[in-house]
Amino acid sequence: VKTSVAIIGAGPAGLLLGRLLGLAGIDNIVLEQRTRTYVEERIRAGLLEHPTVEMLTLAGVDGQLRSNGQFDDGFELRFEGQRTWIATADLTGGHRTVLYPQQEVVKDLLRARDHSGDPIVFEALDVALHDLEGTQPRVTYRDPDGSEHVVTADFVAGCDGFHGVSRRCLPGDVRKEFQRDYPFGWLGILAEVPPSTRELIYAHHDDGFAMHSRRSATLSRLYLQVPPDCDAAAMPDDWIWAELHKRLGTDDDWVLAEGPIIQKSVTAMRSFVVEPLQHGRLFLAGDAAHIVPPTAAKGLNLAVSDISVLSEAFMEHYHGTGDHLLQAYTSTALRRIWRAQEFSRHMTALLHHVPGNEFEARLQKARLQNLVMSESTRAAFAELYVGLPFEGHP
Ligand code: FAD
Ligand code: DHB
Repeated sequence: VKTSVAIIGAGPAGLLLGRLLGLAGIDNIVLEQRTRTYVEERIRAGLLEHPTVEMLTLAGVDGQLRSNGQFDDGFELRFEGQRTWIATADLTGGHRTVLYPQQEVVKDLLRARDHSGDPIVFEALDVALHDLEGTQPRVTYRDPDGSEHVVTADFVAGCDGFHGVSRRCLPGDVRKEFQRDYPFGWLGILAEVPPSTRELIYAHHDDGFAMHSRRSATLSRLYLQVPPDCDAAAMPDDWIWAELHKRLGTDDDWVLAEGPIIQKSVTAMRSFVVEPLQHGRLFLAGDAAHIVPPTAAKGLNLAVSDISVLSEAFMEHYHGTGDHLLQAYTSTALRRIWRAQEFSRHMTALLHHVPGNEFEARLQKARLQNLVMSESTRAAFAELYVGLPFEGHP
């Protein structure tokens, strides 16, 4: 097979890149190691930034999102029993965030690909990248039945997530990795109960962070800070509800409704960036290149912003107007990546409890008070929370 861009990975990054290239008349193939069902059912992020919604609109896949997504004007911040409304939309000239599950974004993009007929291979095993420094890189893979395939392309887009093969193809002498781990993780649950809140609640408590999100009129999504080695299956439902009541509790008559827990899992927290994002004909995007702790919900949104920059650069190349944007991809994308890294770390440090440092704990309360008491602090926070403008597409 010969194509223009070989895309590794059918997550949000790879599928959105494929869609935007397809709309621009640039051939591409997507190679995904898992089955379609696995990819469509993987439960992950929920919050889309304003610029992400704009990109999905540009890609023509915003129909379901506009009818089923829950548009938010802000969120509630809780600590010491007090609740403060942070009016993110009013503070940013009307930019609203949307709760719309990542797997729905993936399904919408897959449906669009079905319509366009652009090729996608599921269960592409042992994907390997070759000749990335030449002008005709190749990607090899194997079917589950053992037959071998070769794709020849002009470019390879490594959109294969944190555990993919693409990042490892950056030669050791050019690759630089930056990483921070956190002494906690998140236990996430899905419960069959109508959400006890209209909008998101982020809570700081001396026993740890808690959050109340939602998935539909009848499904709630909740998170608790737990030790990083916590085994989700071993956590009793009673303990989970008791911690949620305590950490989300207020001094007024707000009550948290309980329901059957239908899913629970623990997510590790990590900050990670690889530099550069490109080598020869290989370009990395999304989780293949960076990971943020989930507190500020930037992971999926950063994948989309990388693709905004990368798709624009491929368009410049194929429209014959030069390779300036491709050459600048790393530096352009990294500006926003590091700003989102900074905000993700800030919001994580603001809300989580780290035992044993009383001075830091007092400063944390002071930072929370700054948000409660100062409109300019809230405005600066809101600007980063709703999402910085994307570089790339206008
Ligand atoms: P992915 O979605 O990881 O897609 C990569 C794709 O590549 C996958 O389909 C994978 O199967 C495929 N692949 C991997 N290796 C290969 C290979 N060798 N060959 C071919 N294909 C391959 N973000 C938030 O903002 N909020 C959250 O609440 C949140 N929760 C999360 C919970 C979990 C458990 C995880 C893992 C992530 C979470 N994230 C969250 C992060 C967010 O989901 C990711 O940032 C987002 O999925 C990135 O999209 P991507 O397309 O770059 O990577
Ligand atoms: C969700 C996750 C987040 O990390 C966040 O900040 C907001 C919402 C969610 O899964 O709904």
